[in-house]
Amino acid sequence: MFELLRRDGLARICKLDTPHGALETPALLPVINPRNITVPLDELHDDLGFKAIITNSYIIRNNEELRERALREGLHELLGYDGVIMTDSGTFQSYMYGEVDVRNEDIVAFQRDIGSDIGTVLDIFTEPDWSEERTSEAVDVTLARTEEAARLKGDMLLAGVVQGSVFPDLRERCARSLASIDADVHPIGGVVPLMEQYRFADLVDVIVASKKGLTPARPVHLFGAGHPMVFALAALLGCDMFDSASYAKFARDGRFMFPEGTASLSDMKGISCHCPACSRHTYEEIVKMKPAERTALIARHNLWVSQEEIGRIKRAIMEGDLWELVERRCRGHPALLDALRRLGDHEEFLELTEPLSRDNSLFYTGPETLKRPAIRRYARRFFERYEYPDTEVMIVFDESSKPYGRYRQQEMRDVLAECDSHFFVESVLGPVPIELDEMYPIAQSVLPVRRDREAVEGLREMMERMSHEHPYAIAVGWDGRRTLETLSMMCSETPKFDLDMARVKAVADMQFGRGAGRALLDGDVELKKSENTGKIRNVLVDGEHVLSMRANDGFFTLKVAGAERLRKAFPAPRLRVQVKEDSVPFNREGKNVFCSFVEECDPDIRPMDEVLVVDPSDELVAVGRALLTRDEMFAFSTGIAVKVRDGVKK
Ligand code: GUN
Ligand code: ZN
Repeated sequence: MFELLRRDGLARICKLDTPHGALETPALLPVINPRNITVPLDELHDDLGFKAIITNSYIIRNNEELRERALREGLHELLGYDGVIMTDSGTFQSYMYGEVDVRNEDIVAFQRDIGSDIGTVLDIFTEPDWSEERTSEAVDVTLARTEEAARLKGDMLLAGVVQGSVFPDLRERCARSLASIDADVHPIGGVVPLMEQYRFADLVDVIVASKKGLTPARPVHLFGAGHPMVFALAALLGCDMFDSASYAKFARDGRFMFPEGTASLSDMKGISCHCPACSRHTYEEIVKMKPAERTALIARHNLWVSQEEIGRIKRAIMEGDLWELVERRCRGHPALLDALRRLGDHEEFLELTEPLSRDNSLFYTGPETLKRPAIRRYARRFFERYEYPDTEVMIVFDESSKPYGRYRQQEMRDVLAECDSHFFVESVLGPVPIELDEMYPIAQSVLPVRRDREAVEGLREMMERMSHEHPYAIAVGWDGRRTLETLSMMCSETPKFDLDMARVKAVADMQFGRGAGRALLDGDVELKKSENTGKIRNVLVDGEHVLSMRANDGFFTLKVAGAERLRKAFPAPRLRVQVKEDSVPFNREGKNVFCSFVEECDPDIRPMDEVLVVDPSDELVAVGRALLTRDEMFAFSTGIAVKVRDGVKK
């Protein structure tokens, strides 16, 4: 079973059940050469915390003594390791050294018979310089072998590898076909040469194309990714598992891995690391060590640093700052910066799993930040969903302290004493109507004061687009007193802009879709505010509580009366998760919606969205927060799809 515990976008913390216990992901599996073990396996497991390793069944099978012992005693006894053991099949050997003398069915059965927890098919390693035709044929063979392996796997989990080289269509086709085969883990294969050549931007395309075809309900492993500087990026794109022989290979070459890159002992003038391996020695001692001793030390360092990075990524997934971590890591090497920039080409795909908001503030780390799905979504929704209030004047303020409304309070008061005006702020995230100033990511983003060229250019385009769309008779940039004097001569209508009402309507439209504000607020509206902060708390319409506004992200939580209004205003399946009949009584009681009970779902629902839970005849049974997208709800057989807040009792 593969269970999702926490997620941020495509990145996730999951639990994979194996015959040797549960494996929490993201996880790095060190590669163990059964004939040459650099770090003892009990130390790996107990001290360094590696609860899973990967070894090569082809090497074991080709050595008579190892083969016999493995078949007799089992793989775990052979290696003296009680954690999760994944095995590879010999594919990598065939890539490195030419043909291997083993058949798929034999190596899969062998892995099963020696008690591997996760065995791998004998896939065909598709190389980056192959033609599309040759690659396509290799994908077909890989798929046929995976089907064969699925029939032979027994109790072993099966790793079905995505091949297809750098052809996105082939990657996606392979991945989609694999999703319908009874495999359990999906490594993305054939990427070692890309990583060796620092083609990280191409690696981004390969991972994205593979993820598009794969089912979200199985873990994804990135074959051969062992440098801690790529873990965060790969995790952001939805890779759950990594494996690596690099820790040992690098160690043999005197190379220390860090999340920021690699340092060679021959270039280093000192040791600045305080990991358990390095801290016991001075730089001079390490330089003078015998090669075997030094290799063992650096291998331990590399493993320790890698494991630290996995821990850091887990924390980032839980705390909501993985994008910041990735942007920082991708500054470790220009080729990684290219990869970060390539993410911008996959904006639409990344947006599909982008949560409505995050707990953490959004830090701008450079112009690449502007391509983040959270920021792109704001601009897209502004142009698609926002309705301009009907005022005569628009004033545009420069970027300022936040929330803008509070910072510009006096200026707005002065203007509204004279004329019927509305207010915008020119933010690099896009034009911000003053009433959206508390909504994620506007209030929660932290930007440098000095703008870079990309930010200025992007903003200019958006302001230009807005200038063609807005309905105001008079539009002016705020220039202090002078603006007031000019306005008093030009404007004629009496002020009517109501910031509170505008806020409720605009946030509703941005959150639920254009027209939601009108549907929710139709009637006698009463706003209840916090006595401490003066912020809107509850929205009552005709005496019914329809919405509550959250202080942290400026969005609404939906009450039953509000959900009922949205249900009437928007046709199915919009904003809805439709559940099966047998789930209805439980959800009415306030119990969560489980994936297996989801009958239909709005494809536009994003994680953390407020949703309507409806029965098969579209009657409202509950309101809550979606944790998954439609595809995920359908793919997972276990887990919560909607965290229900209020049930609608009959
Ligand atoms: N190890 C590194 N790359 C690969 C791959 O593409 N397939 C398999 N089976 N193992 C690998
Ligand atoms: Zn160290």
